[in-house]
Amino acid sequence: MSKNGNISSSVIKRLPRYYRFLGELEKQGVERISSRELSEKMKLTASQIRQDLNCFGGFGQQGYGYQVQSLREEIGHILGVDKAYSTILIGAGNLGKAIALHINFETRGCQLTGIFDANPRLTGETVGSLAIRHTDEIEEFCKAEHPVIAVLCIPKANTQAIADKLVGLGIRSFWNFSHYDLTIDHQGIEVENVHLGDSLLTLTYRTSHLKDSEEE
Ligand code: NAI
Repeated sequence: MSKNGNISSSVIKRLPRYYRFLGELEKQGVERISSRELSEKMKLTASQIRQDLNCFGGFGQQGYGYQVQSLREEIGHILGVDKAYSTILIGAGNLGKAIALHINFETRGCQLTGIFDANPRLTGETVGSLAIRHTDEIEEFCKAEHPVIAVLCIPKANTQAIADKLVGLGIRSFWNFSHYDLTIDHQGIEVENVHLGDSLLTLTYRTSHLKDSEEE
């Protein structure tokens, strides 16, 4: 666990990447790795890695490096992958279906338990192992199953109202894809707004600067 319980968001944002890299090393049969080797693979400095991992009490030993499996387990534990948070997905259109089918919720501490859409024509259609339910059923479902995470894949106009309603039904965390920067004024509610287009824009920025420097 954290040494001081107060970890910066930039460190937290790097943890999934450590977790993924360590998983790949584990698959390759690597048992231990030095911070220098890990830094070369991850394109971070060795001191950055030591600093990051020190936030959690440090897992390495001087001259020995890090034990890949136990470090990955520790980081996974910090990230909460050993949990099984009941998760619902709202909006079973193109994006919602793709997320339901292609994101492995279970290896990320979540269990997708319900998929909802306002379009009655989608009710009963199966996505993976779940049948789409009509949004009219959300309240009853939440009372029975107590989901804590909601994935929002709906048009932005509906997002705030639906999120507010879901908070009233016990949802504590939102993975929001709806092109709307969702904010919730309740304490203890977490929101992760995802904009794939922003990631593309950082690439176009870097591409245009690369071009500028070539032209100079
Ligand atoms: P889509 O039109 O295929 O699906 C939207 C679904 O939401 C439909 O099935 C519709 O019936 C349902 N819906 C609408 N209002 C609802 C409500 N109040 N409750 C429950 N379901 C409701 O659209 P698509 O392509 O799946 O995109 C969904 C949203 O995600 C859009 O707002 C889109 O702009 C956004 N998007 C965001 C991305 C990102 O990086 N954050 C990437 C791609 C799309």
